[in-house]
Formats: sequence, structure tokens, C-alpha cells
Amino acid sequence: MSAEHASEQAEVARRAMGLDVFVTRRIPQPGLDRVRAGVARMEVNPHDRVLTRPELLAGVRGRDGVLSLLTDRIDAEVMDAAGPRCRVFANYAVGFNNVDVAEATRRGVLVTHTPGVLTETTADMAWALLFAAARRIAEGDRYTRAGRFEGWGPMLLLGQDVSGKTLAIVGAGRIGAAVAQRSRGFSMRVLYVDVRANEALERDLGARRVALDEALREADLVSLHVSLEDSTRHLIGARELALMKSTAVLVNTSRGPVVDEAALVEALRSGRIAGAGLDVYEDEPRLAPGLAALENVVLCPHTASATTETRTLMAIMAADNLLSALRGGRPPNLVNPEAVPPRPHA
Ligand code: DGY
Repeated sequence: MSAEHASEQAEVARRAMGLDVFVTRRIPQPGLDRVRAGVARMEVNPHDRVLTRPELLAGVRGRDGVLSLLTDRIDAEVMDAAGPRCRVFANYAVGFNNVDVAEATRRGVLVTHTPGVLTETTADMAWALLFAAARRIAEGDRYTRAGRFEGWGPMLLLGQDVSGKTLAIVGAGRIGAAVAQRSRGFSMRVLYVDVRANEALERDLGARRVALDEALREADLVSLHVSLEDSTRHLIGARELALMKSTAVLVNTSRGPVVDEAALVEALRSGRIAGAGLDVYEDEPRLAPGLAALENVVLCPHTASATTETRTLMAIMAADNLLSALRGGRPPNLVNPEAVPPRPHA
């Protein structure tokens, strides 16, 4: 080991002295190992479940940093419980609607997330749901397992074609664009809805930016990729569902509250739309009454990023964000740069 490297290591170790962090639930080991190596003390939620509110409040108490999950509501109460030493909440998710970012910023507490590493995996899942719903895969699986398959039938489980159809992407950021790019093999017409133009989609796919109502009226397949904000809560409600084709399929891998789930149940039950594929729910882990009883919806338990590779990358990214903030740096995936104190003038 060179003298320079040794002194760097010593510096890291010195800074790590006394650093105390809490991880609100076990994440893949490479992430935990990374955190462990950079701090004096790391405590991980010992249960394989979401912490109760009192457990979360007790767990964060007096920590220098917290590695949190999208299932933890990180608000003023949690920040009060963590106390003035707490410099960062490193969220293990690209979405950070579970964190009161404005409150964190006001207190000079950093918030980080894990963008990029889950884009392709989530886009794959959106397509899996899209196909499953359009081609009635889950329904066919249930039918076959139940011993109801009595041989090929000309009218058995007819679904909707995907190839050659119109795909609407609502929210053409990283994940939405990756979903759109995957349409290449299926000769689709692509529409997208976004406040910003996405030149790559227009150039590569001939995609057209349209208003939400037009997308819903024209699309055969609609995939949602907006982040959850006040402006996107119930973006798809009864009015919007009524605009869709009766043969259309809706896919949601973004956040549950983007869709009015009760209105969706009604639209699926009445045949207003043909089907849906959902990975997220308005009030997770609860489902809207009637949703689970419907045949024309495919339901997944918020697993769009759930591959070993992706969850490991997310763990490493969250760990690096946490450690960077604890060492006084500017973490690479900072949500609230305004919370970083300005450097004093030399
Ligand atoms: C996220 O990261 O926001 C997903 O919902 C879970 O990986």
C-alpha cells in the first residue's frame, strides 16, 4: 500500500469514527457491506418487514444518517426523532415521494435517491405487464392450472394485439423513454405526453408529443411513468378512463396514487377498458375493494425493479450516496442540492 493510499485510508477510518447509521430494512449485502466499511456503527432493522412507526422513530434516534426505503414515511416527525446530527436520508428507490424533501431542505438535511440503475429493469416489467394484460397471460395461467383447459378453442381467451398498435407513454423521462424504445420490434406508433419534448424519441421512433387527452383517446396501450407529485395525483381518473378505447390496456409501474384506483376498478368491471397491468397501488399494500376479484387485471406486488442485479446496484448506489453525504461531500444522486451549505469564501 502506498503512503498516500495508507493516509487516505486512515482519513476515511478517522472520519468513520463515531458515524452511526440506521438502515430501515435489509437490502442486498454488497450495499450493507459498503456502509459497514465506512461507518463506526450500522444498525439494520432486524425484522424482514416494514418497521412500525414507533420502531422507525426509535430506530433513527441520534443517527448521523439513515438509509430509508420507499415504504418509510420520512417527515418532520422522523427528522425530529433522528435529531440534529442526522445529515442524510439516502432513499433506496428512484422515487422519493415518501420523503418530505421541503422539510429536509429547510433543515439542511440531504436526501438522495437511486436513479438510472433500475431504468431498464422497470421498462422490462412495464412490457411484461403490458403483454400479460393484453394477451391475458395471468388469466390463462389460472384457467389452465384450474384444469379448465379442454383443448384449443377458437374463441378461448381472446386478447388484444400488441404489434402494430399505438403505444402512449405518459411521462417520457428515463423509464418512459426506455419503455418507448422497446416498441421498436413491434412496429408501433408511439405517442408521448410530457412537459418537455424528448428529441431522441421523436428522432428514433417518430414518436409524437401530444396532450394527455389525445394520447388516451388514440392509444391501444397506455403506460404511466410520471413521478408522484400534487399535479400527478389521480392523473388518471374516471374522466380520463372514459376517454380510452374499450379495447385499451393501461399499465402502471410508476406510483399508485397516479391512478384513481376505485375509478379503475369500475372501468375494468364495466368493460370501459379491456385490461390493466399494475405494479403499484394507491394505498400499498392494500388494494382497492373489488380489484383483486377482477379477471382483466394483472397484479404484481411493486416488483418492477426486483431483479438481483438491479436491487444490488440500487443498494450500492444508496450506500455510496449515504457515505458521500456523511463525509461532507455532495452525493452524486442528491435530490435537494439547495440543502448543501454554500462553501465559505476563501
Ligand atoms: C423506485 O425505485 O422508486 C421503485 O418504485 C422501486 O424500486
